[in-house]
Amino acid sequence: MKNIVILISGGGSNMAAIVRAAQQQDWAHRLGARVAAVVSNKASAGGLVFARENGIATEVLDHKSFGSREEFDAQLAKIIDQYDPALVVLAGFMRILTPGFVQHFEGRMVNIHPSLLPAFPGLHTHQRAIDEGCKFAGCTVHRVTAELDVGPILEQAVVPVLPDDTADTLAARVLTQEHVIYPRAVAQLMRA
Ligand code: GRF
Repeated sequence: MKNIVILISGGGSNMAAIVRAAQQQDWAHRLGARVAAVVSNKASAGGLVFARENGIATEVLDHKSFGSREEFDAQLAKIIDQYDPALVVLAGFMRILTPGFVQHFEGRMVNIHPSLLPAFPGLHTHQRAIDEGCKFAGCTVHRVTAELDVGPILEQAVVPVLPDDTADTLAARVLTQEHVIYPRAVAQLMRA
């Protein structure tokens, strides 16, 4: 069985979309893959409840109890390695990763970013797209490399930016598409 480990920091709606796809599309039998664990750097992450309710192992590792980014990432890698992951999925995991961590999972780690990369890496993507007068926005699933929000693109989806959009209304429209492309990209990688 190929293990998928999903990292979250918050609501975890992308994680939930992947878990639901795995259930509905029977990834266990069709792809020999399963979501083995959900790991959060915040105990309060709403997504942990969903994961537990769906019988998935959960782990919490609070970055605040570590003296450095390197120490946190080393412990995080240890926890993830317990599941011998074929794929590590960053799903709203709001941490900058150290080069050592990225290297450790090189070739088997993906991220979703709420913009049409390479436009708008980093934070506040929706407000920045609105401020620039973009007519279209979207989201990107990409392989993770050492640089933040950079790496080979696996999937993208496009949505219109509407005249009276706020960052929130645009974010909600983009998020519906994240939930479509992220499970699809993960399934594709498990098939390969
Ligand atoms: C998503 O917009 C994702 O692209 C971004 O953070 C948000 C996480 O949402 N990196 P959720 O936790 O998956 O609901």
